[in-house]
Amino acid sequence: METCLFSVVSSSPEETIAAGERIAALLHTGSVVALRGGLGVGKTWLTKGIARGLGVTEEVTSPTYTIISEYEGCLPLYHIDAYRLRGNDDFAALGADDALYGNGVTVIEWSERIVESIPDNALTIEISILKDARRLIAVKEPRYDYTCA
Ligand SMILES: Nc1ncnc2c1ncn2[C@@H]1O[C@H](COP(=O)(O)OP(=O)(O)O)[C@@H](O)[C@H]1O
Ligand SMILES: [Mg+2]
Repeated sequence: METCLFSVVSSSPEETIAAGERIAALLHTGSVVALRGGLGVGKTWLTKGIARGLGVTEEVTSPTYTIISEYEGCLPLYHIDAYRLRGNDDFAALGADDALYGNGVTVIEWSERIVESIPDNALTIEISILKDARRLIAVKEPRYDYTCA
């Protein structure tokens, strides 16, 4: 079962960027953010905000064709778009594990296409379109259950 940690309603692309900046404050070395939601919901805009929050100054654009882009902020940011991947094997062939289990932050658009490759401790964010231009940005709890010895 998925529990929503918190959600934000954004009324504009700029507000979605601001939400991404706030989410960036929750991230650290090795964090993975799995974005879900259809075409045009605002995944790339949210990533622009996460990048800004991580101190990336370069403009973040959709990696639809490049599949994986790397940016330098206070941590390396790997931005992956799984839209054109056929599945988990394609993802593995990209060498994406180096990003997922490295020292940076990884943000994955269309993560629903590669569910098995997403680490259990990833923060899943589902974006959906409400009325007009508003977007519901729902941050889910990681699947990982922490157990204490
Ligand atoms: N509240 C909003 N947040 C984000 N994008 C919005 C919002 N309202 C309208 N838009 C528009 O929706 C589109 C989102 O694009 P993008 O982030 O590239 O989507 P995705 O990466 O999910 O396919 C942009 O054209 C943007 O201008
Ligand atoms: Mg996109």
